[in-house]
Amino acid sequence: MRSQIVEIRHMLEEDIEKVHAFGLSDFSFSVSNDVHFYEKEELLEWIHTPKQNILLIGTMDGGVVGFLYTHIISKLWGILDGLYVKPDLRGHGIGTKMYNTAYQELQSRGVEYISVQLDVNDSDSRGFILNKGFRTLKTYSWYGKDIEVHPK
Ligand SMILES: CC(C)(COP(=O)(O)OP(=O)(O)OC[C@H]1O[C@@H](n2cnc3c(N)ncnc32)[C@H](O)[C@@H]1OP(=O)(O)O)[C@@H](O)C(=O)NCCC(=O)NCCS
Repeated sequence: MRSQIVEIRHMLEEDIEKVHAFGLSDFSFSVSNDVHFYEKEELLEWIHTPKQNILLIGTMDGGVVGFLYTHIISKLWGILDGLYVKPDLRGHGIGTKMYNTAYQELQSRGVEYISVQLDVNDSDSRGFILNKGFRTLKTYSWYGKDIEVHPK
């Protein structure tokens, strides 16, 4: 891989269509039969609230090859919620570049702690995260419920 031409940068509004298609191209982001990736309106909201959200993409030859989302939940705590590299480009440092960029941003903002929740079956992400110095603290199950929409 010509790693020198992978660019890591903040996601922009004009990237939404491509990133959304990228996220839907693999079921790895799915949390249920209804939720397969972040909604476009969420991506837009996060792009416009950069104090609370770090959205990074890796691009190569104009295409999206990597994605990272971190939510800054408080001045002390950041949650790495999404990290994904195109399968055929894994193992070339793209995940590390995105992670390091987000980590340095958190550090420069004074955030003191970063957590991540992983699918227990996702051994690649676990290997990656342990390699970065994270330690397994607890195992959770994911519970979700739709909120009923009241007519206004
Ligand atoms: C985890 C992931 C992002 C890593 O991206 P990547 O670009 O392949 O990672 P890198 O090439 O930067 O690897 C960095 C380090 O992690 C290590 N690593 C990567 N995958 C690993 C694995 N399966 N087991 C152990 N270590 C691993 C590498 O050996 C490397 O270590 P080194 O720096 O000491 O050589 C990628 O495998 C991925 O996208 N997996 C799927 C994640 C997913 O499903 N996301 C959707 C839900 S959020």
